[in-house]
Amino acid sequence: MLTVNNVDVSYGDVQVLKGISLDVKDKELVAVIGANGAGKTTLIKTISGLLKPGKGSIIFDDQPIHGLPAHRVVAKGIVQVPEGRLLFPDMTVKENLEMGGYLLSGSQMVANNLDMVFELFPVLKERQKQLAGTMSGGEQQMVAVGRALMSSPKVIMFDEPSLGLAPKIVQSIFDMIVKINKELGITILLVEQNVKHSCQISDRAFVIENGEVVLSGCGCDMLENEHVRKAYLGL
Ligand SMILES: Nc1ncnc2c1ncn2[C@@H]1O[C@H](COP(=O)(O)OP(=O)(O)O)[C@@H](O)[C@H]1O
Ligand SMILES: [Mg+2]
Repeated sequence: MLTVNNVDVSYGDVQVLKGISLDVKDKELVAVIGANGAGKTTLIKTISGLLKPGKGSIIFDDQPIHGLPAHRVVAKGIVQVPEGRLLFPDMTVKENLEMGGYLLSGSQMVANNLDMVFELFPVLKERQKQLAGTMSGGEQQMVAVGRALMSSPKVIMFDEPSLGLAPKIVQSIFDMIVKINKELGITILLVEQNVKHSCQISDRAFVIENGEVVLSGCGCDMLENEHVRKAYLGL
């Protein structure tokens, strides 16, 4: 469904992604794990069309998408929940959600998707008039996820959704990602430093180090891997 082939990305003279290849199949939940600075956000931004690969290709539903502007990538059905959530803090919850539906063709579709998001997250319905910036960290993550769902995506890419959240909330965020994958049938690419949780919930996982894939396999096998255990789980 989504294939990244041998992609290089640089910031000026500094090459950050070095021939990265990975693939995500329809309805799969795939994790990309790696330490701080490994190139995870750069990968997501590149798939999103915010950065252009110097080399390689990105294919979605049999069509190349590298080189497309970001709004066209969203229109094709790939949306990201960015690192740090990036909400509009001075806008209400409802206004933030509506921003996610700006590419939809009719107001009826926006209304339908809003109903779907409110059904999934009843707390957002209750708090729809609250300013997003005054919500708790976990609630803001729900708004960010709701905003992504507003565009009727086929694929959602999550960039470190658990970052900065209390351990109790982290579990509920991972549960929500599984629910979106299993119940709504949306394909997921999950980028995380939380190796344990993300391997547990993923079908497959890729480990990236210094902009390269060094390991890949089924999510549960990854937790048994000697290198993963030493380097990421401190075992
Ligand atoms: N806008 C930028 N300009 C220059 N270097 C950057 C920029 N963004 C990220 N980098 C560098 O690219 C590398 C990978 O960053 P990033 O993709 O954010 O990693 P991760 O998300 O895995 O922590 C890091 O060394 C980082 O300093
Ligand atoms: Mg990052």
